[in-house]
Amino acid sequence: MTLSVHIRGLGIYTPSRRLTNHDLTRIVDTTDEWIVSRSGIKERRIAAPGETNADLAAKAAKTALEKANVSPDEIDLLIVATASAESSVPSVACSIHHKLGLRPGIPSFDVSAACSGFLYLLQIAVQMLRSGEYHNALVVASEKLSAITDWQDRSTCVLFGDGAGAAVLAIADSNNGGAYIPSASRPSASILGTVLGSDGSKGDLLSIVPRTPPFPQPQENLPVGTHVISMNGREIFRNAVRVMSQACRDVLKKCNVQPSQLALIIPHQANLRIIDAIAGELDLPLELFKVNLDRYGNTSAASIPIALDEAIHETRLKNGDIFLLVAFGGGFTWGATLLKWNQPKI
Ligand code: UT7
Repeated sequence: MTLSVHIRGLGIYTPSRRLTNHDLTRIVDTTDEWIVSRSGIKERRIAAPGETNADLAAKAAKTALEKANVSPDEIDLLIVATASAESSVPSVACSIHHKLGLRPGIPSFDVSAACSGFLYLLQIAVQMLRSGEYHNALVVASEKLSAITDWQDRSTCVLFGDGAGAAVLAIADSNNGGAYIPSASRPSASILGTVLGSDGSKGDLLSIVPRTPPFPQPQENLPVGTHVISMNGREIFRNAVRVMSQACRDVLKKCNVQPSQLALIIPHQANLRIIDAIAGELDLPLELFKVNLDRYGNTSAASIPIALDEAIHETRLKNGDIFLLVAFGGGFTWGATLLKWNQPKI
């Protein structure tokens, strides 16, 4: 029997500062009209000076623990997905292990899978939980992309934003020692299946590279990092549509689910035109897709949990609904996960 893994609780954190398209017209040669028509983005959130990637991650994680009603000392596995850690060692996971007051001795590590990171986290946690060695996993996708954005490059700086999302996962099977019994009062999501993939031959289309000196003066109180995002937007766009459409087909086939059974699709929030093109490829209405990139831009690994949290608050999911998460990122990496929503009757 395959043990069922549930998301017991979800938490997000987005910084309070809003950087609008209008604000960007003061630092690069762009217009609100261009950004909205080419990407759908209207504004993005920017971390406060001194607010680190680990600060964002810890805030999202605290909320996830509260929502799941799980105490920090019950967590026995911590994994973070990020492409914008301030340092590779210590990892963001090790940094927040202490901030959250988790038990000393549990494994904590970062995963590098760019915008697909949250789906990589779910699959790693599912397999480690199914091994029986772990009981409550905390997974966190956190990005401070403002620190690796080239605020002089209009082709990339209009796209990205900061934010974090976290989830507590556990095996839901009362026969398995230490497993949790899904609550009669709290919603959860059962993970039905995941497909993951990568193609290293196209890595140069989207990368984080050392900044070429001289370093510019900071503008609009935005960070000037030592590394910046470099991207071939048109090629990424084309590949993102192709790969995410195929990942959706693959996970549906793997789980023997028909596209018509889907109640909601939560795609990586990179560009409204990419989402629209995927809807066309799959012959599904755009309304089936959750979109919030207009208010957050592309927050890389954090974009799916932030959009999922918003969809839950909007009550877009009803008991028994099957829904799909799909992502694409630099590397290339991609993934798709199918889930079922469990909403207790009140
Ligand atoms: O998470 C995954 C990571 N990234 C993505 O998914 C991004 C995927 N790509 C995209 O979203 C789109 O390719 C962009 C939004 C980045 C660009 O849209 P596009 O329709 O592919 O535009 P383009 O790069 O072909 O540029 C068209 C024109 C160019 O001018 P010329 O050469 O036609 O005169 C650019 O210089 O638009 C110009 N341009 C801008 N103009 C005003 C590029 N950026 C801007 C800007 N404002 N911010």
